Amino acid sequence: MSQWQPDSWRAKPILQQPTYEDQQHLALVEQKLKGYPPLVFAAETRELFRQLGAVAEGQGFLLQGGDCAESFNEFNAPKIRDTFKVILQMAIVLTFAGRCPVTKVARMAGQYAKPRSGDFETIDGVSLPSYRGDIINSFEFTEASRKPDPQRMLEAYNQSAATLNLLRAFAQGGLADLHEVNRWNMAFVDNNPLKDRYKDLAQRIEESLEFMKVMGINSVNTPTLHETSLFTSHEALLLNYEQALTRVDTLTGNWYNCSAHMLWIGERTRQLDHAHLEFFRGIHNPIGVKVGPGMGEDELIRLIDALNPQNDAGRLTLITRMGADNLEKNLPKLLRRVKQEGRKVVWSSDPMHGNTIKASSGFKTRNFDAILSEIQQFFAAHKAEGTHAGGIHLEMTGQHVTECTGGAYQISDDDLAQAYKTQCDPRLNADQVLEMAFLVADHLRAK
Ligand code: PEP
Ligand code: CO
Repeated sequence: MSQWQPDSWRAKPILQQPTYEDQQHLALVEQKLKGYPPLVFAAETRELFRQLGAVAEGQGFLLQGGDCAESFNEFNAPKIRDTFKVILQMAIVLTFAGRCPVTKVARMAGQYAKPRSGDFETIDGVSLPSYRGDIINSFEFTEASRKPDPQRMLEAYNQSAATLNLLRAFAQGGLADLHEVNRWNMAFVDNNPLKDRYKDLAQRIEESLEFMKVMGINSVNTPTLHETSLFTSHEALLLNYEQALTRVDTLTGNWYNCSAHMLWIGERTRQLDHAHLEFFRGIHNPIGVKVGPGMGEDELIRLIDALNPQNDAGRLTLITRMGADNLEKNLPKLLRRVKQEGRKVVWSSDPMHGNTIKASSGFKTRNFDAILSEIQQFFAAHKAEGTHAGGIHLEMTGQHVTECTGGAYQISDDDLAQAYKTQCDPRLNADQVLEMAFLVADHLRAK
């Protein structure tokens, strides 16, 4: 294999990239970004690697979630805070139920580039280039807005930096206090139409926290009760941007992509001989790759070996997105083969991307029960194969949107128009995602 360089991907075929008209402007932006400070520190990334290593060995659970696509327009503190809060609320439930540490990884602070199924979008007979995420072009359906603009990479960097800054402040500054987090959960349960189903678990967490307090374990003498760590992640799709933020770590001499702690390759760009594989093989971050229903066993082993030739636990997370109707046919054979070959991976379930449908009202949506069904089947398949169901990967928001149908509030097709805000895929809202956590908790307990 030829020598890896941060730019060696440029000699390979590449999919899902914008065509920038002004190459000089592009080069200028890349040069500028190369001089900007890294967004994350390599040692933090190694800590995530270590935690995911434990997950790969069956000793932990990965909770990954956030927007399908972050948006420049909806960039504000309440939005960041609310998503952070529900991630914490879910994590406390999963930690308690699974009796294992939960590693929290947000799809935030950099999730700005989107692969699309078509290069063009047609509305009322007018065809324009597809929206590819705010780092590339704008969602607005006009010719000027849809033109890829390299300048947007600088805006993505700045918004990522500010988001990360606030997340770090929340994580360390007291917002993550476990007593507080469970109080939010108790309030969620109290207001929920299905409260009888969820109440017991929230109450038992409350009692455990009370017991610890009586025993003298409190937020003052035990910082882990009110501080947390939250890692960031996104799909590293736009390689011009990712390359510019890839740096040599002075402590180890290794290359790290410092745009986020964890990066993943999407379902549409994971071809073995293509640019994304080339770029990812040289960075030392923990990485993910999406695995859809078309993946064969041999192809998967080749993919694993290309991305994790040393078979390091924690390096590679396989994020399966089969669809509730396809999982049983496609996942067990992959689990069996990877186990047989002794490859160390984290298996995580993305129950969102294989369950997208068009509602009668015209909106792109996903149904709560289909999402839950994929997660349930994911756990069942792992149980049957003797492998570890290591995590879940959700598109979600702390806001009260109406994008996915179902859940305790029974959002219907007709309700979708009320608060359909996503610029890309439909997300679970705050209530739906917490319900999901309480239901997943049952599986963790049953393991
Ligand atoms: C995504 O995670 O938003 C996404 C596009 O997923 P996939 O690559 O699995 O389709
Ligand atoms: Co998506």
